[in-house]
Amino acid sequence: MKKDLISITDFTKDEYLKIMKLAAEFEANPNQELLKGKVIASLFFEPSTRTRLSFETAISRLGGRIIGFADPDSSSATKGETLHDTIKMVSNYADLIVMRHPLEGAARYAAEISPVPVINAGDGSNQHPTQTLLDMYSILKTQKRLDNLNIFMVGDLKYGRTVHSLLMAMSEFENPVFNFIAPQILEMPEEYKLFLREKGIKYYEHKEFTDIVSAADIIYMTRVQKERFSDPIEYEQVKNVYILRNAMLEKTKPTVKVLHPLPRVNEIHTDVDTNEKAYYFEQARNGVFTREAIISHIMNLK
Ligand code: CP
Repeated sequence: MKKDLISITDFTKDEYLKIMKLAAEFEANPNQELLKGKVIASLFFEPSTRTRLSFETAISRLGGRIIGFADPDSSSATKGETLHDTIKMVSNYADLIVMRHPLEGAARYAAEISPVPVINAGDGSNQHPTQTLLDMYSILKTQKRLDNLNIFMVGDLKYGRTVHSLLMAMSEFENPVFNFIAPQILEMPEEYKLFLREKGIKYYEHKEFTDIVSAADIIYMTRVQKERFSDPIEYEQVKNVYILRNAMLEKTKPTVKVLHPLPRVNEIHTDVDTNEKAYYFEQARNGVFTREAIISHIMNLK
């Protein structure tokens, strides 16, 4: 049976740990010809820098070939071809499909149609499971554990698909505590808070970005997602609501790391970049090894 990765909950805790182990192996030895003779389709219906390029780097390092598009305007979607027909066609050509799409649920729909595995590279404000696995790898590398972590999520928790996936994955580990810092219109959606309550996991909500971050093991910053707002005035009201500055890290734990899925706009001042607590650029680099691991696991290459 084929294996897809659409939601982070498609993988078990054991699979998360296997991906972490494989990612460490690929970090030590990134160039392995495990995809020789295979063709991977990279279909990006929405803009991307890191996810697309790190997937394409991962595929190249594994010796595979890439087909696809970075802009749907260069595909027959502009002539009115449906997602159904596009996936039917591409699955004739490729052994695996990596897809980003602006509509929530589009990746699950593609997986139902496709006879070859589908990896969700982000669907609307729903899920971004490969980002979560690279985030977990970054957390494990920097904190040496995935249990007993105090995780602060800051910014756009409503539309931020990365925080939704990360929250669900980290809930599989011992005793996580979540602190959500968001303006009212960008609060963590109720369905995710309900998910935590049902699991008996502690979470706290805040409006102010203050000294409370001194308790954090991970500060996970997010961009306010302009492209998801129907009202541009609402975006203007919240776009710069939280800005992390270097001075704010003075009273934080020496081991804390600042993560961000990137791209950033203004939410992390550039004066943080040289602080040893900033980890977002290394985090993005970890995406290559983690995506090599995910492809390897899904295609049973090792
Ligand atoms: N983190 C992330 O998804 O970045 P891109 O949108 O550049 O792929």
